[in-house]
Amino acid sequence: MDQQGQSNIGGITIPEPLNVPTHIACIMDGNGRWASSKGLNRIDGHAAGEKAILDFTDLALEHGIPWTTLFAFSTENWCRPAPEVAFLMEFNRNIIVRHGRRFHNQGVRVRYLGCDDPRIPRTLWKQMRELEELTSNNRRMTLTIAFNHGGRSEIVETMRSLVRAGFAAADLSEELISKNLQYPDMPDPDIVIRTASEYRLSNFALWRCAYSELIFLDVLWPDFSRADFMAALSEYSRRTRTFGKVIDSGSSIL
Ligand code: IPE
Ligand code: IPE
Ligand code: MG
Repeated sequence: MDQQGQSNIGGITIPEPLNVPTHIACIMDGNGRWASSKGLNRIDGHAAGEKAILDFTDLALEHGIPWTTLFAFSTENWCRPAPEVAFLMEFNRNIIVRHGRRFHNQGVRVRYLGCDDPRIPRTLWKQMRELEELTSNNRRMTLTIAFNHGGRSEIVETMRSLVRAGFAAADLSEELISKNLQYPDMPDPDIVIRTASEYRLSNFALWRCAYSELIFLDVLWPDFSRADFMAALSEYSRRTRTFGKVIDSGSSIL
């Protein structure tokens, strides 16, 4: 550690102590570009992202982060070519088949955030529910996989549920909406990382990300490494979260 209370690991300056978030979310992007940079097919890029998923969750566990969310398939991703959509369905099934038991053994509770849709294969839907059931008592970390998720759709579904339950306009409040989202126990993300040099949320968790710290990285998702994870945690540690308030800057108000 140097005199400014920082250490340098692999060329990244890490503030000490590191401010570890409660909930870190990631918009995994750049699989297609990774593939085309190597003369491969887009689906090879998705397949290459599997290791980064495991590394990301391992790093979150290593840092004792209790909530992790990965954006795996958006409500807009149905617009992709049918063979790519079909591959993504199988890819997500493979994550369950190949790594579901690993997550369970690590003490990870896996939950899926998103709507049902007849285009999701029924066998996959069942496997998603089975993994949720298998891991339901784990509490070391909750891994939420946003699958057929859209931030706007999540808000619409919540409002529908409130209307169905008979709430009147005057009853509606931010607190009531938050309490009626899917998984109301999940804290809002402290950090949203997006890879692949895109600077947008792409309809991710719009209600929940109102005050998340947005961290944009150049790395393409299949190349995401420990260094990128540490770079994101370091950047978060340097941010001051104000939530609309004035943080004492040493100046008088008037
Ligand atoms: C992210 O990578 C994966 C999903 C959206 C499922 P992309 O497939 O969007 O990769 P790019 O943006 O085309 O490079
Ligand atoms: C967002 O990435 C969705 C997921 C990561 C699952 P996209 O690549 O689909 O987003 P856009 O189309 O560039 O906004
Ligand atoms: Mg993309």
